[in-house]
Amino acid sequence: KGTYGVSGGVIEELVKLDESVLGLQVGDIISRFEKKGFYLKGMKFINVDRPFAEKHYEDLSAKPFFSGLVDYIISGPVVAMIWEGKNVILTGRKIIGATNPAESAPGTIRGDYAIEIGRNIIHGSDSAEGARKEIALWFPDGPANWQSSVHHWIYE
Ligand code: TYD
Repeated sequence: KGTYGVSGGVIEELVKLDESVLGLQVGDIISRFEKKGFYLKGMKFINVDRPFAEKHYEDLSAKPFFSGLVDYIISGPVVAMIWEGKNVILTGRKIIGATNPAESAPGTIRGDYAIEIGRNIIHGSDSAEGARKEIALWFPDGPANWQSSVHHWIYE
């Protein structure tokens, strides 16, 4: 599908929630991508099991933090989303902020909502290829099919 390139790209976001923040962060996090002008093309609120989480993070399986990362993502529900738009992967990662919240700027999601690297609350795909793989895993039916009616107000 034409929507997966980097320039018209798609990013997959996973927002990790726990009960103390449920309903508080997720709306704000969704808003940040919406306000920027990206299009929401998929969203679900689910628990994933260990094999699924290990598949999602398979590229990191040799890292010392892998099992902790998997434990974290399966510890409660996540909001999985597909966002589409020009440079969405690169820009989305700026909106998300640096991996370590100690270094993420205030105003970024991790800068505003996280302290520990192993509790940095959100994942975003880091390449078009990564996004394609992650979307196939999380959204086997693919993105929702809709076109923005205000597209011309966002893109020249
Ligand atoms: P990575 O893909 O390097 O970062 P990002 O999510 O910014 O693309 O790492 C994936 C996740 O692994 C990261 O979001 C948090 C966790 N992690 C740790 O727990 N400890 C670490 O030292 C690193 C580098 C990552």
